[in-house]
Amino acid sequence: MKKKLIDGKTTSNKIKKRIAKEVAKIIDNDEKAPHLAAVLVGGDPASEFYVKSKEKACKSVGITSSVYRHSEKTTEANLLEIIDFMNNDPEIDGFIVQLPLPKHIDVDRIINRINPAKDVDGFHPMNIGKMVIGAPTYLPATPAGIMMMIKEYKIETAGKNIVVLGRSNIVGTPISIMLSRKANPGNATVTLCHSRTQNLEEITKQADIIIAAIGQAEFVKADMVKKGVVIIDVGIHRVEDKTKEKGYRITGDVAFDEVSKKASLITPVPGGVGLMTIAALLENTLKAAKKEVYR
Ligand code: GUN
Repeated sequence: MKKKLIDGKTTSNKIKKRIAKEVAKIIDNDEKAPHLAAVLVGGDPASEFYVKSKEKACKSVGITSSVYRHSEKTTEANLLEIIDFMNNDPEIDGFIVQLPLPKHIDVDRIINRINPAKDVDGFHPMNIGKMVIGAPTYLPATPAGIMMMIKEYKIETAGKNIVVLGRSNIVGTPISIMLSRKANPGNATVTLCHSRTQNLEEITKQADIIIAAIGQAEFVKADMVKKGVVIIDVGIHRVEDKTKEKGYRITGDVAFDEVSKKASLITPVPGGVGLMTIAALLENTLKAAKKEVYR
C-alpha cells in the first residue's frame, strides 16, 4: 500500500493564512488585535514548549499573546485570582491554563472558574455541553484540529468504523463525540478504547480510521491495523535512540515506520496533529475576539 502523508504543516499554514487575513481586517477597522493569554504553572518542559509554540503562532498571524508564568508552588487561591483577573480584563479575548497543573491544584475548580466566553480551550463544562449537542461553541483545539485535517484531506467518515484510542477529556472523549454526531465530518460508528478494553487488536483491525491518543510511544503496531487504514497520531514522545545524533527521536503513539507501510494516509510526528492544534486555538481566539460564540 502506498502511504500518503497528511501534512500538518501545509494544512495549518493554510488555516493560519486565512486567520491572518481576518486579523488584518479587524486591525484595518481600527479595532484592537485579538489577544490570547496563557497561564503556565511550573516548568514542565513539554508545557513550556507548547506555550512557546502558541506565542510564535500568534505572532505569525497578528494575534497579541501574553504568558503569565507562575511557580510550581503557586496556590490554588492565587491561580483562581489570576483567572478572575483575566475574566475581567477587556484586553484579553481568550485565555488558556496550560495543563497539567501541579497535584495540589484542583483542575476542575480552575476550569470551572474560567468565563466560558473566554474559554478558547473549550474545556469549561458549558462549552463541552454545547459541543455534545452540536451548538456553536469553542471546540477543544486538538479534536478541532483533527476535524480540520479530515476536511482538508476529504477523508470520508460517514458510515466508517473509527477507533479512538484513549478517553481523555482533552482528546479521546471529545473527538469520539464529534465524529459520531450527525454532521460532516461525522456520522461515523465510533469505538472508544481505553485501558480496560479487551481484545483491542480485534477492534483496531476493523478500523477504517484510527485516532491514537493514549500517550504511549509507538503503541500501535502494524499487526494491529488493516491495509488501507487512515492513521491520525496525536501522541508526541521523546524516546532514546542511539542511532540519532541527539541520542533521541521524537515519535508518536504509532510505530510510524511499520504502520505507514499498511496505511493509505498517515500523520507524521512531528509535523502532524500538533500544528493543527495550534491553528485551531488561533481560530478559537479569533472567534472570541469577534464574539461569535457569546455576545
Ligand atoms: N495540555 C496538553 N494539551 C493541552 C491543551 O490543548 N490545552 C491546555 N490548556 N493544556 C494542554
